[in-house]
Amino acid sequence: MTLLVFYIFLSLQLKASASHTWIKSGYWYTGSEYPIPNINTALFTHLICAFAYINSSTHELVLLTSDEPYISSFTSTIKKSNPSVKPLLSIWTENEGCEHKDGNSSKFLLITENPAYRKSFIESSIKMARAYGFEGLDLYVTTLLKTKGNITTLGILFNEWRAAVDEEKLILTMGGHFSPELDLVSYPVDSVRRNFDWVHVQSYDFHTPKIDNFTGAHSALYDPFSHKNTDYGINEWIKRGLPASKLVLGLAYHGYAWTLVDPKDNGIGALAKGIAITIDGSLSYDYIKKYLSSYRVNPVYNSTYVMSYCAIGSFWIGFDDVETIRNKVAYAKEKGLLGYNVWQVPNDRNWELSKAAGKNDYNLS
Ligand SMILES: *[C@@H]1O[C@H](CO)[C@@H](O)[C@H](O)[C@H]1NC(C)=O
Ligand SMILES: *[C@@H]1O[C@H](CO)[C@@H](O)[C@H](O)[C@H]1NC(C)=O
Ligand SMILES: *[C@@H]1O[C@H](CO)[C@@H](O)[C@H](O)[C@H]1NC(C)=O
Ligand SMILES: *[C@@H]1O[C@H](CO)[C@@H](O)[C@H](O)[C@H]1NC(C)=O
Ligand SMILES: *[C@@H]1O[C@H](CO)[C@@H](O)[C@H](O)[C@H]1NC(C)=O
Repeated sequence: MTLLVFYIFLSLQLKASASHTWIKSGYWYTGSEYPIPNINTALFTHLICAFAYINSSTHELVLLTSDEPYISSFTSTIKKSNPSVKPLLSIWTENEGCEHKDGNSSKFLLITENPAYRKSFIESSIKMARAYGFEGLDLYVTTLLKTKGNITTLGILFNEWRAAVDEEKLILTMGGHFSPELDLVSYPVDSVRRNFDWVHVQSYDFHTPKIDNFTGAHSALYDPFSHKNTDYGINEWIKRGLPASKLVLGLAYHGYAWTLVDPKDNGIGALAKGIAITIDGSLSYDYIKKYLSSYRVNPVYNSTYVMSYCAIGSFWIGFDDVETIRNKVAYAKEKGLLGYNVWQVPNDRNWELSKAAGKNDYNLS
């Protein structure tokens, strides 16, 4: 009896590891207004459509009326050009809408404390996935660590959700904070490990011109002076029990622009006096490359942080260039991660970042 159970366990383990593929995933967000048929789907294994929201009185998933035509046709549109790409629907869990960057997930945690609310949430998520042909659900819960609440009941929700999606053969992924622990709470890593197919980490936006008055490496792979870096977060997740094979690296196709205090002091960490160029300083990779070529400026690659930057007069822009993206994907492979996930796909320029990330010619040492 014991041997039989062991044998079944072993064969399931083997099956699970054999089915591991390298994940090349990316978000498409309605707010980008980028035409879905223009996505180069051949460059991705999974595409995540963002976002469905949670109705705070029914605890069911809802779509914004203006998003509905795009989200409801997402799966059929991307399957036309790549029948094997897997579409996932992402669920926003912050109290505020997603243009509000300083939110927390307190209302979502309240849902997890009530069995009837959990049931409404879970059933409606599966119903919506099925109605629109999604093959998985993605829980975008990156601000959990700023929220006081009961993490035990969050773990219960994850258990119940897993049981329900298994019956439907849906994928379950989480968009998580770059590191599992912060001020108020930590992720229930054991429950996350058991219940999610993978966690893709938000390994960017570590520094923004809205918050930091110095030029920051917003997507630093390493940082000799601070824990706000990708390698630190990945190691923390692994240390707390999430295996590397369930971690997916976040890649940012955007950068940030600061205004320098002194144009001659323009390295990483130089004094800055706030936002430049756009309303929050964020710029797509596509825009950055156009901007730099209009000034005939080449970015500097800094291997200490693994990021690129450039100064034009008193403007300073930090971002991930082709070389940066390639080095990050090489890091993900060396570290034994499951793949990468892009925020967000339409910010690329002629698909050059996605092509660089997807190239399979890494010479791993
Ligand atoms: C949430 O559900 C309630 C009750 O069905 C409904 O009146 C309300 O319009 C819904 N809100 C949204 C944003 O869909
Ligand atoms: C979470 O956000 C709400 C507003 O949506 C706010 O009232 C509450 O104080 C916040 N909680 C924490 C722990 O920051
Ligand atoms: C959290 O939820 C669990 C399970 O329902 C319960 O046993 C525990 O008392 C709760 N903890 C707090 C601090 O509310
Ligand atoms: C930058 O911000 C820090 C922390 O908020 C503050 O202590 C410092 O005085 C600020 N520096 C400048 C030049 O504004
Ligand atoms: C990267 O930038 C930092 C901060 O300006 C600097 O100290 C470091 O030497 C740079 N690294 C390289 C390899 O140039």
